Amino acid sequence: MEEPADLLSHGQVGLRRWHTSDLDALHEAISGSLPHLIPWMPWAAAYDRRMGPAFLARNQAEWVSGEAFGYAITSEGTVIGSCGLFRRIGAGGLDIGYWLHPRWTGRGLATMAATALVEQGFRLTGVDRMEIHHDAANPAGGAVARRLGFTEAGRGPTPEGPTAPGEVGVDVTWQITAAQWAARTTAQSDKQASGRIR
Ligand SMILES: CC(C)(COP(=O)(O)OP(=O)(O)OC[C@H]1O[C@@H](n2cnc3c(N)ncnc32)[C@H](O)[C@@H]1OP(=O)(O)O)[C@@H](O)C(=O)NCCC(=O)NCCS
Repeated sequence: MEEPADLLSHGQVGLRRWHTSDLDALHEAISGSLPHLIPWMPWAAAYDRRMGPAFLARNQAEWVSGEAFGYAITSEGTVIGSCGLFRRIGAGGLDIGYWLHPRWTGRGLATMAATALVEQGFRLTGVDRMEIHHDAANPAGGAVARRLGFTEAGRGPTPEGPTAPGEVGVDVTWQITAAQWAARTTAQSDKQASGRIR
């Protein structure tokens, strides 16, 4: 089965595949982020350090099966959050998810991590669209999608209703196609090149 790279980077962030030896780094990142994760992450309210081994083992199993590819987000040598590529939206598509420790928000680092995921996702054979989903009450999730050039493709009630305390149970879908991503990348390169010439 084709796999993404274990290491990715974009701008000031690195992404590295989670490993079973990452228990301390995972716990440090999650425990300092809980008040900011609990409203949006269904697992966060019940988080306990003892959940770490199961998270890392599941990450490894899903990577091998091709269901999901989870990465630690690093910057300045520290694990600052987590993100991943998921096969949850049917053939030809991948969706992406992310969270950051609040000490590292407001600097564009989630957008850089998501850019690395989109670049990698479109390099996988057969992937022609990528999506980002977030609850309608969580605009920070959508702001990353907008900065990446995704467009809102729809919103509607989730069958299961709200799954975390901040949610209203309305799923917002953002989408970008491989052709749109390639056009955006070319436009950005052209802009940078013309900036250099002047
Ligand atoms: C979603 C989440 C990762 C977004 O983090 P973030 O720091 O807002 O996102 P970015 O890293 O892209 O940073 C964007 C911010 O940095 C600023 N910024 C600074 N330098 C920047 C740069 N070079 N590029 C882009 N943005 C930059 C932007 O203006 C923006 O600030 P603003 O929100 O005050 O306008 C974070 O809020 C989070 O972890 N939330 C909890 C979990 C969650 O909801 N996950 C998403 C579920 S879909």
